[in-house]
Amino acid sequence: MPNFETVTVETDLLIIGGGMSACGATFEAAYWAKKHGLKVTVVDKAAMDRSGAVAMGLSAINQYIGWAAGDNTLEDYVKYVRQDLMGISREDLVYDIARHVDSSVHLFEKWGLPIWKDDNGKYVHEGRWQVMINGESFKVIVAEAAKNALASLGDNGRLFERVFIVEPLMDGDRVAGAVGFSVRENKFYVFKAKATMACMGGAVNVFRPRSVGEGLGRAWYPPWNAGSTAYFTIKAGAEMTCQEVRFIPIRFKDGYGPVGAWFLLFKARATNALGEEYMVTRADELTKWAPYGLAKPIPANLRNWLGMEDIMAGKGPLYIRTEEAIANLAAQYKDDPKAFKKKMKELESEAWEDFLDMTISQSLLWAGMNIQPEEKSSEIAAAEPYFIGSHSGASGAWVCGPSDVMPDEYKKHWEQIGLYNHMTTVKGLFTAGDGSGASSHKFSSGSHAEGRIAAKGAIAFILENNTMPNVETAKVEEMKKTILAPMDLYEQNVKYSSDPEVNPAYIKPKMFMFRLQKIMDEYVGGVSAQFTTNRALLERGLELLGMLKEDSAKLAAADLHELLRAWENTHRLWIAESHLRHVLFREETRWPGYCFRADYPDMDEPNWKCFVNSVYDPNTDNWTIKKVPVVNLPV
Ligand code: FAD
Ligand code: ADX
Repeated sequence: MPNFETVTVETDLLIIGGGMSACGATFEAAYWAKKHGLKVTVVDKAAMDRSGAVAMGLSAINQYIGWAAGDNTLEDYVKYVRQDLMGISREDLVYDIARHVDSSVHLFEKWGLPIWKDDNGKYVHEGRWQVMINGESFKVIVAEAAKNALASLGDNGRLFERVFIVEPLMDGDRVAGAVGFSVRENKFYVFKAKATMACMGGAVNVFRPRSVGEGLGRAWYPPWNAGSTAYFTIKAGAEMTCQEVRFIPIRFKDGYGPVGAWFLLFKARATNALGEEYMVTRADELTKWAPYGLAKPIPANLRNWLGMEDIMAGKGPLYIRTEEAIANLAAQYKDDPKAFKKKMKELESEAWEDFLDMTISQSLLWAGMNIQPEEKSSEIAAAEPYFIGSHSGASGAWVCGPSDVMPDEYKKHWEQIGLYNHMTTVKGLFTAGDGSGASSHKFSSGSHAEGRIAAKGAIAFILENNTMPNVETAKVEEMKKTILAPMDLYEQNVKYSSDPEVNPAYIKPKMFMFRLQKIMDEYVGGVSAQFTTNRALLERGLELLGMLKEDSAKLAAADLHELLRAWENTHRLWIAESHLRHVLFREETRWPGYCFRADYPDMDEPNWKCFVNSVYDPNTDNWTIKKVPVVNLPV
């Protein structure tokens, strides 16, 4: 086995991840760390400038309240998220993020992000909560500010890029840091910290994607987030919530281009192949999902559901009527040919920029398929399920809210370990963005704001628990051995077969991923099962996942890159298991359009208007799962 140097880094605050929430956390932590002489260390598996979901850029900021200007109230946002999540949300967290989010957006603008303005200097809105940006360089701008803040700490601020974090380090019931390895050199890293933030985003490729074979790798959610946050928090013993709430976005088919700008800004309609607008023709179905189905805006999963019903009735494909939308927007200029031509050019360029800023592959697909959006509709389709608690899914850890707003019912969870905003139920472990559950619709801006909130909580924790946790050297050595084992296994057995990909002694990460995806797709309601499952399927799926888990000890890696892939897939496996257990526990269908329990086809408000929370006990290898009441804020 290649010799791996062990590098040990001691810090006060460890921030894992370099995405939107980690950048917010770094910016905020640096401010407080400077005041108190504390050390802050940031670790990203990639390069912060282009890491995470915002890597390619974005074309809109999806959470902006306009609170100071009186455009909307915080209460409006709480109601919006409650409605979109079919009643199940942590309203204290949503409220807290909403009251901080505008300041993150104003910082982005100050740092150089171009936000569209109208003739009166007001932000141009895509929809009520979304503002339009020229966002190709969004992530670079936000990362630069975080790096500058870190650099202002001198030797007390350190950034490690291209280091993949595998496991939490524990000191009894307190988190003590994390371990991982460099994806470029033979180095094993041990980060010891007084408080740790897990900000490693959500997960993709847990379910079999629609794009297989020649399109493999193309998905809406970026392939580099593989469930590390959920794995980290679960393995540390943190209580998880809403793990059953996956997100299925309706997207431009195959290129996965987002639809928000088309529906909200361009006011496009979606129709089936017969030209029927399913949101109109199937409106009666919404009464079945009252009260949420009957209020506005219609929740994302119900919008999906109406389209899916058309597909199941054989009325596909579905189309987004881009040519009609553009024609409608230009219609008012039709009596003035010059102005009409100018408006058409403007709309065309906005349409292309929407994708060039955010989903370049969609523009390539348009070009490759001879699609000009002003002339021809594009197909849309429901994507495979993803885990993204910051968007319209809700999976993540159960975190402490702000003490001024958090209901007493929730405060009980932190009685033993103290109330620190955004601490999980594990002492010293914080999370934000895709990592914190039941507080969806934070998106890029809200994740940044939430990272700031959580970092402030973590610094408060450090100041009041200012001791370095104890980490046993023998335990670290054991972890190093386990983490590097896939390379050993490969080296020892590769000569046994003529093809290194196929070997009775091991399984390569790619094959392992395919097996996981097949199980999730067929048994847990993926694309090929039309997002439908039942108890028998789930129980069989759990059995198969158990066997896959056994085989995870046989993952083999030819090089550092495959070692990364091996551990990414172990992380995926754990988020998969947690998801399955939650779907199994919730005996109703609450989010049709995301997941349909064929054996419980209705929503059951009296019994299931609650959170489903789970805890994995690393000492006994047992999962416990329970209901937790939803406490509404008085809004
Ligand atoms: P991310 O920003 O994804 O960051 C995760 C970080 O963790 C990355 O730095 C990654 O490299 C790192 N990481 C992962 N695993 C490890 C590991 N094991 N070890 C170390 N580091 C690790 N929001 C909007 O406001 N407007 C939009 O138009 C919009 N469009 C979107 C389009 C897409 C395709 C997607 C997926 C999201 C979009 N969002 C949008 C939402 C927004 O991108 C997310 O809400 C936000 O990025 C979440 O922040 P995060 O910090 O949780 O995760
Ligand atoms: S993106 O994050 O990939 O850009 P998307 O384009 O679907 O997502 O959505 C952007 C924003 O518009 C989100 O806030 C989403 O909830 C909202 N949105 C998208 N489509 C609709 C719709 N038909 N009605 C209401 N809101 C929508």
